Amino acid sequence: MRMTVSGASASGGFDMVDLHDPMLYGQGEPHSVWRHLRRHSPVHRNVTADGRSFWSVTRHQDVMRVLRDYEVFTSARGNLLTTLGTDDVAGGRMVTVTDPPHHARLRAPQVAALTAGVRGTGGTRMREAVRALLRPALDGSPWDLARAATRLPLMALGPVMGLPAADWPALGRLAFAAVAPDDPVYAAEGTRTTLATAHHELFSYFRAALRSRHRSPADDLLTRLLPPAGEDTRAAAELAVYHCYSLLLGAVTTLPHTMSATALAMAENSRVIEAMRQGPQALATGVEEALRWSSPAAHVLRHTTRPVELAGVPLSRGEAVVAWLGSANRDEAVFPDPYRFDPGRTPNRHLAFGYGPHYCLGAALARASLTAVLVELVDAVEAVEVCGPVEHLNSHFIAGINRLPVRLTPRRRAAH
Ligand code: HEM
Repeated sequence: MRMTVSGASASGGFDMVDLHDPMLYGQGEPHSVWRHLRRHSPVHRNVTADGRSFWSVTRHQDVMRVLRDYEVFTSARGNLLTTLGTDDVAGGRMVTVTDPPHHARLRAPQVAALTAGVRGTGGTRMREAVRALLRPALDGSPWDLARAATRLPLMALGPVMGLPAADWPALGRLAFAAVAPDDPVYAAEGTRTTLATAHHELFSYFRAALRSRHRSPADDLLTRLLPPAGEDTRAAAELAVYHCYSLLLGAVTTLPHTMSATALAMAENSRVIEAMRQGPQALATGVEEALRWSSPAAHVLRHTTRPVELAGVPLSRGEAVVAWLGSANRDEAVFPDPYRFDPGRTPNRHLAFGYGPHYCLGAALARASLTAVLVELVDAVEAVEVCGPVEHLNSHFIAGINRLPVRLTPRRRAAH
């Protein structure tokens, strides 16, 4: 997805744009539409081409309200537009589609398992992995950075979960197929079959991996997710499979796109990479700006549980409400000069990780991984240059880049 608006002024026609259409994000300019809606129709009714409808919420303060107020805006019927019109079958079993108070019971084991495993991720191991990822491009030859970035999620999560490196490429492919089943890169046999096959294979993989940890425990996240002895182990073990699935998908859908969008911002403006080279504080604010800028999870979905008024607009019970995180993160009421990538931006109250009870539980791992990426990038690379056509992902959920051909200019080291 293009990360900014073109010079064209927001004018007529935007009210009619279908925000459900994946092509808008690959080929069009969603930021222009969102800007128009924030100004003129911040709670806006969208009807899809096949007659389904949802409300689009585009302002920062309204998005926060929707995400905070889980009693009125439930996640239990699904949290992504892909399920619009059909309730998500994982409701009550998967953390993303379960409301408090039951939500806390699903979330707590994942947080505990992940926290124990994240220590050290920002350190040597992750930096070495990123260095190896960048190495082939440091001779200045053309390199598809977006394709390379797809390896990042498993580089970050694989060791924490205890997944063998030999399995990472297949797991990455299956996870992408599960979230982008109609993307030509992953759709082997049509959308439905691709999706069903990916789900089936991922669930079988994690079931087998958890069974093996049950027999021989290890110091890893999979083992920490196993139910304590004496619990109703079948049901709890099945929940652990869902936990693994949501952790994998949470990482795969997001991290590569923040890396790609940030590299593209560096290519478009050399001051971005220079600014991030000014020390740890500059890197820390740079990571937050990279998250705001890329907002890889473009939206989250909720449904109203009762009639409610939002920004003066009355909504009935049972309506689908889409909170556009990508739009909230460009809201000029909160972010001065929102279409500028400002690595030193403070404060930066971005909503890239969501807000409220479902706030991303991989946020610490994501920040540690992105810090490692940026540390290595600014250390090894003088400049990023785009050297071929950039392809954006056709998806209303993932603000992503499929192809980003670049040439990296390596930094000259002072002779010792
Ligand atoms: C740039 C990186 C990331 C971004 C922008 C991001 C974004 C988000 C957002 C917006 C939500 C809220 C969903 C909702 O409100 O319905 C979320 C939840 C979640 N994320 Fe992330 N995420 C990132 C990385 C990760 C990673 C690395 C993991 C796994 C280790 C992960 C796992 C999860 C899980 C399991 C949830 C569900 C939490 C809950 O429902 O309580 N995410 N993420």
